[in-house]
Amino acid sequence: MTRYDEVKIELTNKPKIWLVTGVAGFIGSNLLETLLKLDQRVVGLDNFSTGFQKNLDEVKSLVTDDQWNRFEFIQGDICDLDTCKRVMNHSSAGKVNYVLHQAALGSVPRSIDDPINTNKSNIDGFLNMLVAAKDAGVDSFTYAASSSTYGDHPALPKVEENIGNPLSPYAVTKYVNELYANVFARVYGFNTIGLRYFNVFGPRQNPSGVYAAVIPKWVELMMKNESIKINGDGETSRDFSYITNAVQMNIIAATTKDSKSGVFNMALGERTSLNQLYNMIKNEIRQNGLNYTLEPLYQDFRPGDVRHSQAEISKAQKNLGYKPAHKVNVGIKETVKWFFNKSSR
Ligand SMILES: NC(=O)c1ccc[n+]([C@@H]2O[C@H](COP(=O)([O-])OP(=O)(O)OC[C@H]3O[C@@H](n4cnc5c(N)ncnc54)[C@H](O)[C@@H]3O)[C@@H](O)[C@H]2O)c1
Repeated sequence: MTRYDEVKIELTNKPKIWLVTGVAGFIGSNLLETLLKLDQRVVGLDNFSTGFQKNLDEVKSLVTDDQWNRFEFIQGDICDLDTCKRVMNHSSAGKVNYVLHQAALGSVPRSIDDPINTNKSNIDGFLNMLVAAKDAGVDSFTYAASSSTYGDHPALPKVEENIGNPLSPYAVTKYVNELYANVFARVYGFNTIGLRYFNVFGPRQNPSGVYAAVIPKWVELMMKNESIKINGDGETSRDFSYITNAVQMNIIAATTKDSKSGVFNMALGERTSLNQLYNMIKNEIRQNGLNYTLEPLYQDFRPGDVRHSQAEISKAQKNLGYKPAHKVNVGIKETVKWFFNKSSR
């Protein structure tokens, strides 16, 4: 039995109160779905800046009425300290046990276009959440860190201790999160766990807009029979990880018994090139009945893009009992299926 299996049994037997910020977003709504299916109580906070009511509606359709009634949603902004304090004590069932802090403005290009607003949500908002959670005396605070913190460090695979210089305002904000979290542990004895997400993908990830992530964007373009533009020669690689792995790591990190503090890579621990990814998605699109035959259009490398990225995940395996359950191809199959189901609804 894995640690995740054990934790799921413990939680089902003795439900807890969770606060998920960014609950209407991609990762937040997937955390919500799993927690409600485990009969947990969840308080959710979101300002709908990049999240959607439709994500919450979908979760509602996937759980029982009893499970949904254990969810309390607050529309609000983490940039407002009073809101952050209020959500800690919002649940009618009592004080929040575990915080899963996901709310932030994602996307490197967005942060280059708008560093001020990225800084507001990702640093000011983060600090508000940290203070509110510390003051409320929650049992644990797990937050979304980012692989962008590795910046220009050339080593592969990426090991938690070895980071380089940040390459974007977004990376600065995520690194500052780690610095604050570290200082809160030293100064106040408030332990936190940062999960450095690599490229997470899956159902409910937004395919639209200029800041969309590569997988949902490509799926949607192929479903519209449009061609895919690949930056560079397609041999650029990333450690793509299906959402279930991220959900697992959040839950085992939050409930870890030894109140561990620090940062952990959250990834599959493998490398997939853009060409491989393209072929996997194309195959699944065809499996779903669309005869997609277009070839990708290769264009210039995007300036500043890191050539390869891959995580070393042994720290999380050893300390948290993390065991990624889904490989990229399985995740792609599930994701493409979800997009097809969505389009037929
Ligand atoms: N998806 C990835 O591959 C990835 C990689 C590295 C890090 N992350 C981090 O994971 C977290 C979740 O990302 P996601 O992919 O689900 O993105 P997302 O945009 O789908 O979700 C973020 C959610 O936070 C909310 N939000 C943003 N600013 C807020 C604010 N000021 N107050 C309240 N709510 C706010 C948004 O409305 C949205 O619902 C983010 O912190 C992101 O930086 C994601």
